[in-house]
Amino acid sequence: MDKILARYKELIALIEKYNQEYYVKNISAISDYEYDQLYKELTQLEEANPEIIIRTSPTQFVGDIDNNLVSSDKKIEHQIRMYSLENSYSREDIIEFIDKVKKVVSANVKSIEFVIEPKIDGAAVSIKYSGGVLVEAATRGDGVIGEDILDNIKSLGVLPESIEDKGDVIIRGEAYMPISTFNKLNIEREAEGKTLFANPRNAAAGSLKLLDSVKVASRGLKLFLYSVDLGRKNSNHFDDLKYLEESGFPVNENYFKFSETDDIMDAIFKVEKIRDGLDYELDGAVVKVNDYAIRDELGHTSKYPRFAISYKYKSESARTKLLSVTFQVGRTGAITPVAELVPVSLSGSVIARATLHNNDEIKRLGVRIGDTVIIEKGGEVIPKIISVDRDIFNADSREIEVPTVCPVCNSTLTNDISGVKGYCINRECPAIVQGNILHFGSRDAMDIKGFGVRIVEQFLEHNIIKDISDIYNLDRKEILKLEGFQSQSVDNLLEAIEQSKSQPFHRVLYGIGIKNIGRTATKLIVKQFGDIDTIMKATEEEISSIYGIGIGSASILVNFFKDDINMKIVDRLRSSGLKFEKEPDLLNKTALDKSFVITGKLSHERQYFKDLIESYGARVSSSVSKNTDYLLAGTDAGSKLKKALELGVKVIDENELNTILSGCS
Ligand code: IVH
Repeated sequence: MDKILARYKELIALIEKYNQEYYVKNISAISDYEYDQLYKELTQLEEANPEIIIRTSPTQFVGDIDNNLVSSDKKIEHQIRMYSLENSYSREDIIEFIDKVKKVVSANVKSIEFVIEPKIDGAAVSIKYSGGVLVEAATRGDGVIGEDILDNIKSLGVLPESIEDKGDVIIRGEAYMPISTFNKLNIEREAEGKTLFANPRNAAAGSLKLLDSVKVASRGLKLFLYSVDLGRKNSNHFDDLKYLEESGFPVNENYFKFSETDDIMDAIFKVEKIRDGLDYELDGAVVKVNDYAIRDELGHTSKYPRFAISYKYKSESARTKLLSVTFQVGRTGAITPVAELVPVSLSGSVIARATLHNNDEIKRLGVRIGDTVIIEKGGEVIPKIISVDRDIFNADSREIEVPTVCPVCNSTLTNDISGVKGYCINRECPAIVQGNILHFGSRDAMDIKGFGVRIVEQFLEHNIIKDISDIYNLDRKEILKLEGFQSQSVDNLLEAIEQSKSQPFHRVLYGIGIKNIGRTATKLIVKQFGDIDTIMKATEEEISSIYGIGIGSASILVNFFKDDINMKIVDRLRSSGLKFEKEPDLLNKTALDKSFVITGKLSHERQYFKDLIESYGARVSSSVSKNTDYLLAGTDAGSKLKKALELGVKVIDENELNTILSGCS
């Protein structure tokens, strides 16, 4: 076994080395054939000894070449240095900053204007237009030299490709990942056995540097621009922000201009107030001198500009006691430790549970039952324990016992070699069965409205369903016998189930819940093979030749369809009328080169319309600008509608959308 392990580690090290050389330095140290041989040996070793598989094995990545593979050879020297900001935490700090500014500027300036704007928690980017064309995009790097991310920035589809100004223009801003996108990404990564991103900032920074810009586009990054650093149009920042907005650049709308300290503080708190309702992380406000001439007088220190300061909001945390740890079984069988806490109030809600991610995290924190812990609400839905308060000693504290058997079905767990997580591999484990059914009906899969935990639990308990294929063969009378079901609610559920039959094939395939095959992978597979029969006939080689699908996932997919039980489920779903082939292609359609924004209440979730519009090759962005072609507006549309009307953007309803879309088929 030691020999096998040694060879296993050696193979991984070799493949990683060649990957790095290939992707990062563009060197092919060995031939494709030799590389494939190594890969094959690794896969075979893993197949023969599944207990040794580690999560970081190259076979375990689906889709992405992960974040460590950065195009580090493509450096860009910043024409204008990118500074960072000094932090402040109190009104006193802000008063001191304003006083310093006033001391430096010429005596004849009576009142100095400041702009207050949100400090977005993402990754800084610098972009450059030359001759009216977008020619350069770079990360901040060390402020002097950054990395080239032009293709990735372009793939976000949020920047105008060209502008009227033909001179050199440098614009800067923050790329960020919406919190909802971040949560989804981590759920997917969890299912695929990948390491989770700690917060939206890391996810944004990592995604920006991915080598594959198609993959970057799928990460759903967004951008807010916050400064014009070269080719300024006005004598001050405020007017330049307006200019950016009007030219179709995404600018965060919550910026204010004030001179008096009280007003500046009010604006800082105003920004803090809107923070909770936002789908992106904002960790403070930035106070900037408005007038460029005054900025020039103030200059920079070696690290910071003297004309701007950031005011950091206190991060929301709370102190409470760890009562116990429960181990939850996910649909993939992965066991996740969850902290049960003495309920405590944290940013407006009462928190009684926090995630501990995995066994390593328990070790890292050194946390024991009975400890006093600090919890924080980051970008995740569930708060997390960030540290143990060692000042509060507890003589009765107990070690957290990591289970060796499944807490639900009692079968022995398998561990990955690093021991980071246990896995239940009993496919009949009630937790896995329930997880699979819930996954199938979930929003990103078949989106069956109302088919939640409570109903699924009840159905399982009364043997109304055993697996996902039973969902389409429900007996109305049987359900009516259950507690809490009335005629109307049964009809609603059955109607929702019926409607889900029209979901496209990639959602069906994703819903079936093949381990390691996430949403992106299913889309790629469907795009390549078209229908289920072709997928079932495909070999590992054919599947893994899709850019973005690893041999490990290809092998899981092939094995999935070799399994009789899985095949029975697929056959039943098929005879229930679900879609098992992709929608007619856009081959004969010209892609719809239009930009849409969606707002208000519509007949389906926004995601539905987003998918629909994008399936026609058109773009969907989140904010209305001069470049928006259509605003799809439902009822109760608010500021976006107002803005669209101001800018003369065409406002359409669902019927008009259908006309536009069908016009391009
Ligand atoms: S201005 C010369 N404005 O914060 C000043 N920065 O800690 C340059 N950031 O690296 C920055 N939102 O990535 C500015 N509205 C905003 C910002 C912002 C986020 C980031 C930026 C910068 C970091 C400084």
